[in-house]
Amino acid sequence: MTDVNGYEQSDREEHIKVLNLESLQERAKKIIPTGGFGYIAGGSENDWTLEANRKAFTHKQIYPRALTNIEKPDLSTNVFGIDLKTPIMMAPVAAQGLANSQGEKDTAKAFAAEGALMAQSTYSSSSIADTAAAGNGSPQFFQLYMSKDWKFNEAILDEAKKAGVKGIILTVDATVDGYREADIVNNFQFPIPMANLEKFSEGAGKGQGIAEIYAAAAQKISPEDVRRIAEYTDLPVIVKGIQTPGDAELAIGAGAAGVYVSNHGGRQLNGGPASFDALEAVAKTVSGRVPIIFDSGIRRGSDVFKALASGADLVAIGRPIVYALALGGAPAAQDALQELNNEFKTTMQLAGTKTIKDVQNTTLAEFKY
Ligand code: LAC
Repeated sequence: MTDVNGYEQSDREEHIKVLNLESLQERAKKIIPTGGFGYIAGGSENDWTLEANRKAFTHKQIYPRALTNIEKPDLSTNVFGIDLKTPIMMAPVAAQGLANSQGEKDTAKAFAAEGALMAQSTYSSSSIADTAAAGNGSPQFFQLYMSKDWKFNEAILDEAKKAGVKGIILTVDATVDGYREADIVNNFQFPIPMANLEKFSEGAGKGQGIAEIYAAAAQKISPEDVRRIAEYTDLPVIVKGIQTPGDAELAIGAGAAGVYVSNHGGRQLNGGPASFDALEAVAKTVSGRVPIIFDSGIRRGSDVFKALASGADLVAIGRPIVYALALGGAPAAQDALQELNNEFKTTMQLAGTKTIKDVQNTTLAEFKY
């Protein structure tokens, strides 16, 4: 353990046994200090949407296809012109230093080792350049929380480009924070500064809650803002936080090169649908014009399969990797990703699908349980 401003940060670096990703939460709870754990695990209000995100995967089923004469499913894919060994990527989770002293650097190492895409958050504990260096040339995206200050937006986009990231994820569903009760109960304030903000003001992030951090970001975002960012950078801009066909259409119309279907892991608007329930309608509207990234609720290989078969091109995971970081840093994060890849591979085989294209062409059954 490393004591940072009174916060006991894990510095474990070891392989762990991962039975499944769901089981990591209880194990990590024993290691991550209460305030940090509540911030990571929590949803908003009474967590209805957070819980719906998991339950929704029962709304569609995979018929096994046995007489397909296939073996050794191939998880590799190419999205946004990037070759990847798996369609599973890291979601741009903030403040991973809450889980491990190496923070995002360890996540970058783990995803690079598996040939998977890493996404960095604006509110990372490690800087863009340090996380990029830890990935050692492996593909990464950078997630932008748009500021009211366009000098900040331009400077951080320039820095991401300089660090070699291959895409910008613009989050649009967090103009204010959802009502996060765990943070109120724990009186949670970030104990560790946010490296990317520190360049603009010393110690930025430290001693602040998420509400204050969001207050410095834009409180309203329009399609014009998306256009301005897309015009500023020559990197593909993927708009994150889309739950409706209407918003997908606006994002594409404003120059988005990708649509990211997400309800922020149930942390923002409570009372909205599960992200998986929202995916199919968005995918129908997008209709292959741009790639779709999906997150919020993925824990199982069969969830990955169902999301891809419902229109996603990439599927992101967040919290389980952060829990793995607490349990054993980069080696453990790699173990967790391997476990999800293995479960997904098993699902592919049992569903009779050899390639990611086959998965995407699968028609799922719809019985509501
Ligand atoms: C959160 C932001 C920072 O959900 O993504 O806390």
